[in-house]
Amino acid sequence: MTATATGLTGGSPVVIVGAGQGGVQVAASLREGGFTGPVTVVDTESGLPYQRPPLSKAFLTGDGSRSLIDLRSESFFDENSISLHTGQRVDGIDRSAGKVALEGGEYLDYAHLVLATGAGPRTLPVPGADQEGVAVLRTLTDATLLRTLLPGQELRVVIVGGGFIGLEVAAVAAKLGHRVTIVETLPRLMARAVSPELATYVADMHRSHGTEILLGNRVVALPGKNGRVEAVELDDGSRIDADLVLVGIGAVPNTDLAVQADLEVGDGIVVDDGLRTSDPAVSAIGDCASFPSHHAGRRTRLESVQNAVDQARHVAHRLLTGSVEPYRSVPWFWTTQFELRVQMVGLPQEEDERVIHGDPSTGRFSVLRFHNGRLNSIESVNRPQDHVGGRKLLATELRPTLDELRQTDFKFDPKRFA
Ligand code: NAI
Repeated sequence: MTATATGLTGGSPVVIVGAGQGGVQVAASLREGGFTGPVTVVDTESGLPYQRPPLSKAFLTGDGSRSLIDLRSESFFDENSISLHTGQRVDGIDRSAGKVALEGGEYLDYAHLVLATGAGPRTLPVPGADQEGVAVLRTLTDATLLRTLLPGQELRVVIVGGGFIGLEVAAVAAKLGHRVTIVETLPRLMARAVSPELATYVADMHRSHGTEILLGNRVVALPGKNGRVEAVELDDGSRIDADLVLVGIGAVPNTDLAVQADLEVGDGIVVDDGLRTSDPAVSAIGDCASFPSHHAGRRTRLESVQNAVDQARHVAHRLLTGSVEPYRSVPWFWTTQFELRVQMVGLPQEEDERVIHGDPSTGRFSVLRFHNGRLNSIESVNRPQDHVGGRKLLATELRPTLDELRQTDFKFDPKRFA
């Protein structure tokens, strides 16, 4: 059972490791495209596959109901003959035999294997980080624990890491009336992803809700008593009392299986522009995959729903048709904090100029970021039309000039630049 030039044959089994947004989308897209072979999705986490974005937002304050975050209903998997092995770990891959070993001794044959293993939370390498009261947020189990800790009496919550997770949880905690402090090592919030203007705007928004933000500080220890955290100690010698510490300092790609299977791995599982690993019978997608990005102009790894879903569709299309095309989807992201909806499109790899549309003081503005006079990304706060237009524009090779974009009446209409 092998792949043909026109795609996988009907009897060829596809195994997908990882039932996150990417893994489940591969299975769904294969069925939508008419693939009739066996499709199996395996994941260590048990239960129905779920969406992660609500875990750091509405799920923390809602009733904790799972149905609101299901990726697909149970009947979807049955009706589409997608075999779901959740709560089961993949122990290894035998590439020469085309087999995946499941914990417990069972094997699954594959003609094509998709690794959608995601990423895990980076841990804080300081004394006391393994105590009670120190939390991370990645899985439904993490979120379920956090939502039991957050309501109730006022807590002193310290958030380590001023990135997406940290800020989204900080907003929830502040809204629930807790005393929140954010500790970030870099000189601004979300430095990896957003411009100084947006970082300042977001920081002001958090401060206006009573949150303290400490920038340029490193955590050196988490002192505690009887196995429970009591404080956060910083490199300048200061100490912040804490009942709850949430660590959101980035994600590390899950590459163990790929390493064990002797696939090429760098910062993620290395794939080509068609998303094939060093073994063409194995693809990798989503947070775990390091791919040559057309938009970044270099190899990169993206942690976002858009990227996972679009890469999944891309791989499914290749498996269905046999046609290897370069993956070129425009990257976009979003975050909601308080009433703020921030949308980002493109990748600001390097940047030397910025143009602002709208007015931050009104809470509606966009930051357009350039490198060598070329627009590479747009951040929008409560201006969804700029985001939508930016997505269309960045999908083309058309680029308005800096002067065109300095016009205050500019509308993102790709036809204007045709
Ligand atoms: P992140 O990379 O967004 O932010 C981590 C932050 O922690 C950075 O600002 C970094 O400078 C800081 N940091 C690193 N080490 C530190 C230390 N020792 N002390 C203090 N600060 C430190 O990662 P985050 O927030 O943990 O998110 C994890 C994952 O969740 C990522 O995959 C992220 O993309 C994803 N996510 C995405 C969202 C979105 O797209 N809206 C929302 C929530 C999560």
